[in-house]
Formats: sequence, C-alpha cells, structure tokens
Amino acid sequence: MEMIDLALADLKFPPPSSVLRELRQEISKVNYYPSGDYLELKQAFCNYLGPEVSLTSENLVFGNGLDEVIDLVTRVWGGVNLIPSPTFSQYSMAAARSNQRVISSSMLRQGNYELNFDETDLKKASLVWVCNPNNPTGDLIPRKKIEQTLDDARGMVAVDECYYEYTGKTVVDLVEEYENLIVLRGFSKNFGIAGLRLGVAISRPENIRKIERIRQPFNVNRMAEKAGVIVLKHKNEYKKIWQRVLKIGRKFAAEIKRMGYRPFPVNANFVLVDFLDEKKASEIFLKLKNNGIKTYPGWSDEDFEGDLNQHIRFAVSVEKHMKLAVEVLRR
Ligand SMILES: Cc1ncc(COP(=O)(O)O)c(C=O)c1O
Repeated sequence: MEMIDLALADLKFPPPSSVLRELRQEISKVNYYPSGDYLELKQAFCNYLGPEVSLTSENLVFGNGLDEVIDLVTRVWGGVNLIPSPTFSQYSMAAARSNQRVISSSMLRQGNYELNFDETDLKKASLVWVCNPNNPTGDLIPRKKIEQTLDDARGMVAVDECYYEYTGKTVVDLVEEYENLIVLRGFSKNFGIAGLRLGVAISRPENIRKIERIRQPFNVNRMAEKAGVIVLKHKNEYKKIWQRVLKIGRKFAAEIKRMGYRPFPVNANFVLVDFLDEKKASEIFLKLKNNGIKTYPGWSDEDFEGDLNQHIRFAVSVEKHMKLAVEVLRR
C-alpha cells in the first residue's frame, strides 16, 4: 500500500510546467559554481517585496532552506533563545546544535494560542522566536503583539514568515524601523521547491553582514539559485495554487468541525485538529495510518514541540486525499 503523506507540510502540488521548463535549461550548467553573491536572486526578491518596502540586496541573505537560515540566525544571536510553545521544532534544535540555552514559554491558554511573552524572559533572551502564522497551530499573530515584542525585547527578534504567501500578513515593512528585527521567508511551502532548499532572511544591512561573515561561500546551490529567480517571475501562477490549498484546507476543517472535533485556524497548508481526548487522538492516528494516511501526531517532537497530546496535524493535499482522510475519520 502506498502511503498518502499528510505529515510533511511541503507543497503537494508540483511547480507550474512553465517553471519546470525554464529550470530544466539550468541543468546543463551544473558544472559551474553558483554565483556566490546571489545578486540576481536578491534583486528578484527585492522586486517581489514590492516598492512599498524600500529594501535592497544589502538587506537580504539566502540560505540552503529556511532551516539553514534558522541555524545561521541562532549562531549569530543565540545564547539565550526564547521560544514560544508549541511551535516549529527547528528553533530549539538549532539552539541544541550550538549548545545554547532555551527558555520555552507556553502560549496555550484554554486550548488557544496567544503570543504573550513574560517581560523578564524578554529581558533575558538574546534571541526571541516568533512564527507567523504559527506552525503547527496555524494562528496568525496580531501585528501589535509583534511590535510589542520588538519594543520589549533586549535582543534580536526573528519573525519566521515561512507561510506568508497564504495570508499576506507581514512585518517586513518594519525592518527599517527596528534594528532588532529579522524576518525569515521560505520557498518550500509556497513555491514548491522544498527539494532544492532555499530560504531568505531580511534585516538591516549591519545584521545581514553578520550572517554573511559565517555562511559558506556557496551555501545555496546553483539549481536553487536559478529556481528562486524563476518562481518569483511566475508568482501569479502560484497565487492560484495558494488559493486552492486554502480552500481545500478550510473545507477539510469544516468537515472536522461537523464531526465534533476542534480544528485550528487554517492560514497555511496544514490543519491542526484537537481531538479533545488523548486516547481518541491516538486511536485516530493509528486508524489513519492503517488506512494508508500518514499524519503528524502532536505528541511526537519530530516537527514541532509543545504539549499537544490530543492533537494531530494534517498537511493539505489534493482534494482526493483530503476526502479520503474525512472518510476514514467518519468510519
Ligand atoms: C515555520 C517554519 N519555518 C521554517 C521551515 C523550514 O523550511 P525550509 O524547507 O525552507 O527549510 C518550516 C518547515 O517545516 C517551518 O514550518
């Protein structure tokens, strides 16, 4: 039986054929190194950010997936890492890889995620992580909360906008105003090039230079460098995919709600579901698995951490797969 993967939240739709056609041409040039300065890609990303934010290539540094960018940010500003919980696991794993300290702060209040750091923690931390929308809960963090965090934090605040394209909510326009802000954007969940690995950090030039000093000279490979330029050119084709993903995800969440369970907000290509009871959740996880559907159980710490013992995260896939998941849940 071939398993349907609703565990990993990569984009379940392949890039448009126009993108793949252009990308194929680059294959014949893989005997050459990547550019190393990534200037064409930086220019393309500045254009993508739009004229409202007057940022230049000096405000950007690219990485081998956002995972590498998280590592680089942690190596530069970490030491004492303040991490909300539950959230994406790589913030604390990057800290562990560098033997750094983590202050974990639970943000669940009566089952709802609400960013509310303790003021003393904000004064202690050299690096604060905010994931918006938050993986795995899907919650959007109100802009005011992020501004308040930036104002109160003693150290750097990293805002991970890995799923930005699904809702368009960003604080990238605050980069010039706040010297302690670094915004992270990805290419895996939105542009569907998770397999090539590309991510970017956006901040003041003096912050970017600190990362530039420690990154490897060709940290982004040649295919990823080219793919970044190509996908940004085709953003209008991707917009249709993002709308479709949200529509499928929200329909799935509505079905879940009808069954009496509690879906979290759908603001990205995944849906977190509270099955209201630990035993029930583990039975459902096994039932899905036995029917060929792989999901992320909240009680494993593979992708995200925090106490989610009665929760399962579903990646949004094509309509057929989500329909099958609903059918299995109804049985
Ligand atoms: C919030 C968040 N940030 C970063 C990443 C890493 O993305 P990438 O594939 O670009 O390394 C993920 C992937 O799951 C994520 O959920």
